[in-house]
Amino acid sequence: MIVAIDGPAGAGKGTLARRLAAAFNLAYLDTGALYRAVGVAVLDAGGNPADPAAAESAARNLGLDLLDSPRLRTEAAGDAASQVAAVPGVRAALLEFQRQFAHHPPSPCVGAVLDGRDIGTVVCPEARLKLFVTASAEERARRRTLELRGKGIAAIQDRVLADMLARDERDRDRKVAPLAPANDAVVLDTTDMDADMVFDRAAALVRNAATPA
Ligand code: C5P
Repeated sequence: MIVAIDGPAGAGKGTLARRLAAAFNLAYLDTGALYRAVGVAVLDAGGNPADPAAAESAARNLGLDLLDSPRLRTEAAGDAASQVAAVPGVRAALLEFQRQFAHHPPSPCVGAVLDGRDIGTVVCPEARLKLFVTASAEERARRRTLELRGKGIAAIQDRVLADMLARDERDRDRKVAPLAPANDAVVLDTTDMDADMVFDRAAALVRNAATPA
């Protein structure tokens, strides 16, 4: 059972994916963390995330220990992630790990839920259920600002919105694996929904997808 969740920044994919994973005994992979870790590794080495050679080398030598680091959660890491994510060699280097995780989730999980930008279109086009979770840019910026402030990080909503729009544009316009809903994805616009409503709706879809036809 593979559930693919894609969508733009701040749409609530991670919160939803975590809750679905817990409710349905699925392993969760935050694929954005992989790209963030590559971006941070390039910055740590004093490189430019937009430099394809530096980005690809960081992706090929990525240590998984960085994946849980709070440093990945900053806006600077998100911005660096979206720059390295446009490099084809970076995407190729990370693809196999994501597919392996999806098809061989750690025991005792009965499947996997992956969230990102290209899970339903590229990484797992065979996923049993594909969700495209979105919300208006203003609402996504509002939620992200609250989240950052909750972590004690000073955040200005207009600035968060501008960064988010720049990142969305880069993710949508890139040549490889651009952000887009798969043809068979269910689109969930969460602008006027709270996290419980989104979860209830998605859980019903998972139950439905898990039932043999
Ligand atoms: O989801 P998150 O905001 O952590 O992702 C950070 C960046 O990583 C995104 O803006 C996007 O450029 C990139 N990404 C991607 N493909 C994925 C997951 C993330 O290109 N599957």
